Amino acid sequence: MGIIDLSRDAAILHYITTDDPAEAAALYAAAREVREEQYGRDVYFRGLIEFTNYCKNDCYYCGIRHGNRNAERYRLTTEQILYCCQMGDMLGYRSFVLQGGEDPWFTDDRITEMVEAIRRKYPEHAITLSIGERKRESYERFFRAGANRYLLRHETANDEHYRKLHPAVLSLVERKDCLFALRDIGYQVGAGFMVGTPYQTPECLLEDLRFLEELDPHMVGIGPFIPQGDTPFGSRPGGSLEQTLRMLALTRLLLPKTLLPATTALGTINPLGRELGLLAGANVVMPNLSPKAVRKLYALYDNKICTGDEAAECRFCMEGRIRDYGFIPEMSRGDSRVEFAVPAFKGSPDP
Ligand code: SAM
Ligand code: FES
Repeated sequence: MGIIDLSRDAAILHYITTDDPAEAAALYAAAREVREEQYGRDVYFRGLIEFTNYCKNDCYYCGIRHGNRNAERYRLTTEQILYCCQMGDMLGYRSFVLQGGEDPWFTDDRITEMVEAIRRKYPEHAITLSIGERKRESYERFFRAGANRYLLRHETANDEHYRKLHPAVLSLVERKDCLFALRDIGYQVGAGFMVGTPYQTPECLLEDLRFLEELDPHMVGIGPFIPQGDTPFGSRPGGSLEQTLRMLALTRLLLPKTLLPATTALGTINPLGRELGLLAGANVVMPNLSPKAVRKLYALYDNKICTGDEAAECRFCMEGRIRDYGFIPEMSRGDSRVEFAVPAFKGSPDP
């Protein structure tokens, strides 16, 4: 790993906290090199469909939490979701991410029907779900219906910190159990965390990295915490660009084969945040395919970018930005190089 030796906790903690620009630049350069060895200069596109902003949970940081009476709620119909997929397919996407709050209206039956409907029309595309915690049996059903990836950020791997970010009904043990179950079923799994949440210490971030090494996920979503005015953390400071970039680079160095998105949240705190993310080892972008009318309503945090753009605008804007920085837009499914479990039951889709 050249001059960057991350074999000791103390070295990782040093890079988590360093404010020396030369050290940070060396870290990004090392991460870029590893990303290039693994994935070249390709940047994979996933089309994000935010299909419901109803949520039964009350995470203290999240703008669509149940307790936010100011949030205007929406749910897309299957027809609207399929229309987003059709738009996405026409724009070249081969990977759809269906994300939403934990919405009880979307029972296992309804999620299964939605996945089956998409799978019928798009037999070759990757279908990713990001709908929170469910029973293992439910995850198995969705997998059999045709879902092959699942994003569930662990949020923080430190138990005490987890309890400061969530009400007592939510637990880190259960969140982690879900992630291991998903991996075991055969999904390509994405974990991840926010940088700069209230009460987060450098040691928490070190624990996040150690947990990721243990889970060995196919994808890691890392973005800055951004306050949302109607939440209990609405007046807290947000995460910094620099620390988020350092966490991206450290993740790339410790988990070379993982897929690493340059997140919308990173683009929200800095106009060039996503480009800088790519320069720090990221290799995925997730432009929005949700109908323009509901974009603003999926308000996890304040000032979210791209809420006024059509799907095609986002797609081509992102392509231009990627090319400007010497990367190559790649519209294929973009499977992870991390190995996945062999599905244990008949009829499972190829992950
Ligand atoms: N309900 C699903 C779940 O729990 O995984 C998916 C939706 S959830 C809104 C997606 C992610 O948004 C969360 O995992 C969290 O990390 C991120 N998020 C929520 N509030 C945020 C905030 N204020 N700033 C930045 N990211 C936030
Ligand atoms: Fe449910 Fe944020 S509290 S998605």
